[in-house]
Amino acid sequence: MLQTMTTSDQAAALLDVAIVIPTFNEAANVPKLVAKLDAALAGLAWEAIFVDDDSPDGTADAARTLGRADRRVRVIQRIGRRGLSSACIEGMCATAAPLVAVIDGDLQHDETLLPQMLATFRADQSLDVAIGSRFVAGGGTGDWDRDRVAKSAFATRLSRRVLKADLTDPMSGFFMIRSDVVRRIVPGLNAIGFKILLDIMTASPQPLKFVELPYTFRTRELGESKLDHVVAMEFLIALYDRMFGRIVPVRFAMFSAIGLIGVGVHMSVLFPVVRLWGEGTFLAGQILAAVTAMTANFFLNNALTYRDRRLKGAKALLDGWVSFCVVCSVGLVANIGVAGFLHDAREGGWAVSALVGVLVGAVWNYALSSRFVWGRY
Ligand code: GDD
Ligand code: MN
Repeated sequence: MLQTMTTSDQAAALLDVAIVIPTFNEAANVPKLVAKLDAALAGLAWEAIFVDDDSPDGTADAARTLGRADRRVRVIQRIGRRGLSSACIEGMCATAAPLVAVIDGDLQHDETLLPQMLATFRADQSLDVAIGSRFVAGGGTGDWDRDRVAKSAFATRLSRRVLKADLTDPMSGFFMIRSDVVRRIVPGLNAIGFKILLDIMTASPQPLKFVELPYTFRTRELGESKLDHVVAMEFLIALYDRMFGRIVPVRFAMFSAIGLIGVGVHMSVLFPVVRLWGEGTFLAGQILAAVTAMTANFFLNNALTYRDRRLKGAKALLDGWVSFCVVCSVGLVANIGVAGFLHDAREGGWAVSALVGVLVGAVWNYALSSRFVWGRY
């Protein structure tokens, strides 16, 4: 239960919670935030961990100045690195407290919600995350303009596609979580960009148990926002990585390598045909070579790329082989079409045109065969 302590008790008290504060150029906000935390967390044993990416404005020094007089204030100063998510992760892994909260350093998050978050953990032993939400009843986005509201709503919709949980504010950067849960999940985090909560919620193999508590996003008074186009791009990359990153690169690489083997098969069929029976048989040889290469590719992909969903039995194999040949024939048409177009348009030399054609064909073959031959939806 929550207990009230005097200052002399605090050294002996067990640490309740760590507050992780990612900062970049927030020097003027540091003392204000610590004062607000001190008021909000009165009676609790807490520590504040500023994770600063070597801000030129001396944010880390501002925090150290406080930390000298108040040992609850700590600083991690990262050199040569940037990133809100990765800063949060480092801060969350740097505490012995059983609970850890993440809060912005610019006073836009409502720190008075922290004791309520802590109370929900005390009331529910199986809770993993308590999330400060702008979109549950009682919360709000403060004085955001319509543009920012629209962008945020769009990003929220996108992120809900990768998130299976029914969470209204997955973009929130304000939450409290069990620190052992974080340590368990960290190896699976992509740590890209700003959206640390989304990263955590989608990385966990078991769905995390969460509650959302309403708060109103405040206006920034000092300093400026770091959310820019790069951050928006990173968001999309992080989503891509979550959606496809784990499967596609590996499979696509295998598929492409097998495609290269197919080229070798093709040439080693075509070469003797033309050699033995003369140029007049080129077209027949070309068709024979293509079918042989596709067949080889089909069986190699079936055995390697899609070994987890390998087609077995004569009928499945025959069906698969036919659809693979159809997909690859269309891919070949796309390859030749694109390469021819680029070459005619003189967009690139013949080699570049051919390579782009091959790439388009490969992506086509990969995307369609994974779907229609090996049934990966
Ligand atoms: N260490 C570190 N490194 N901190 C950073 C970095 C970085 O590269 N970039 C930003 N921060 C810190 C800021 O100093 C601030 O304390 C906090 O992260 C939030 O950054 P802002 O630039 O103020 O972000 P915002 O207000 O636009 O976005 C906030 O709103 C989102 C809700 O849509 C962030 O709080 C998000 O966490 C939140 O999800
Ligand atoms: Mn902010």
